[in-house]
Amino acid sequence: MDAACLDRTALPSPAELYERVRHHVPAIEWPALAEDVAAIQALKRARNAVVLAHNYQAPEIFHTVADIVGDSLALAREAARTDADVIVLAGVHFMAETAKILNPGKTVLIPDPGAGCSLAESITAADVRALRRRHPGVPVVTYVNTSAAVKAESDLCCTSGNAKAVVESLGVPRVLMIPDEYLAQNVQADLPHIEILTWAGHCEVHERFTAEDIREARQAYPGVAVLAHPECPPAVVAEADFSGSTAAMQDYVETRRPAQVVMITECAMADNLALRNPDVAFVKPCNLCPHMKRISLGKIRRSLETLAHEVTVPDDLIAPARRAVERMLAVRP
Ligand code: 13P
Ligand code: SF4
Repeated sequence: MDAACLDRTALPSPAELYERVRHHVPAIEWPALAEDVAAIQALKRARNAVVLAHNYQAPEIFHTVADIVGDSLALAREAARTDADVIVLAGVHFMAETAKILNPGKTVLIPDPGAGCSLAESITAADVRALRRRHPGVPVVTYVNTSAAVKAESDLCCTSGNAKAVVESLGVPRVLMIPDEYLAQNVQADLPHIEILTWAGHCEVHERFTAEDIREARQAYPGVAVLAHPECPPAVVAEADFSGSTAAMQDYVETRRPAQVVMITECAMADNLALRNPDVAFVKPCNLCPHMKRISLGKIRRSLETLAHEVTVPDDLIAPARRAVERMLAVRP
């Protein structure tokens, strides 16, 4: 193992780890979790493994065993950079596939292979080929929340953190932006000079928010800052004070430090930020992603013990999917 890739000497003690999550995890539950945490830390050392965790992961994962945390863009960037032999993706399947596409020689594990995504399930490679036939010559920008097969049919990928910059980077008047209809419509509102054609895919978590939720939150908490993820419908984004990727929402909270904030996104986002920002009051509503919630400390531990569940991508898809992801990574917002 390459000892330089992780600073093993800096591992916090169990007491320090509990301090990070004690406002979220009751003391009575900690001993069982601490056992999993200790086992995961030892297994990571033994296997030269890293845990990449998305911002929607539960606090006991996010704050104790993750080596790298972030939004989809940050995780893709870090996956491209790591020198670990094993990557455990604490997130959903498309994120693990992206890590595999960027690291075909490494072992990439997902602790629960059932951790899917309604957006990834909304479109197939055949759908993309049909769209291309219907709109010849129009470049296809594909959200990373898709399968490797769909990425392989695309010109380049985007995330919520760089969608606008990616579309603008093409310098063309017409773009197909798939499969998230609302993300595409939200980008369209910012780029009226470009015609954005889209697909009727939705995030099952963000599509449930309504503009009325925001109006109610403003009434209940006067002065509250409202941050909405761009997978929300445009009417929701229009009511918000700010819209951006999960990393951009974090940045807003940590730099602007609103007294009260509502995060119109997955619930773990506020849970994780609240632990690091005790001076900010986080208020509801939020929605749970059932896919993200399939990942647990116990499943991460088993994954590292047994090297299950290994994520594979067919050889013929690696090169075209990688081209689309790398083209995205080359775009600077
Ligand atoms: P970001 O973290 O890239 O904003 O994505 C949100 C999301 O829904 C990932 O599944
Ligand atoms: Fe997919 Fe939405 Fe869950 Fe993200 S929050 S994984 S976009 S279903």
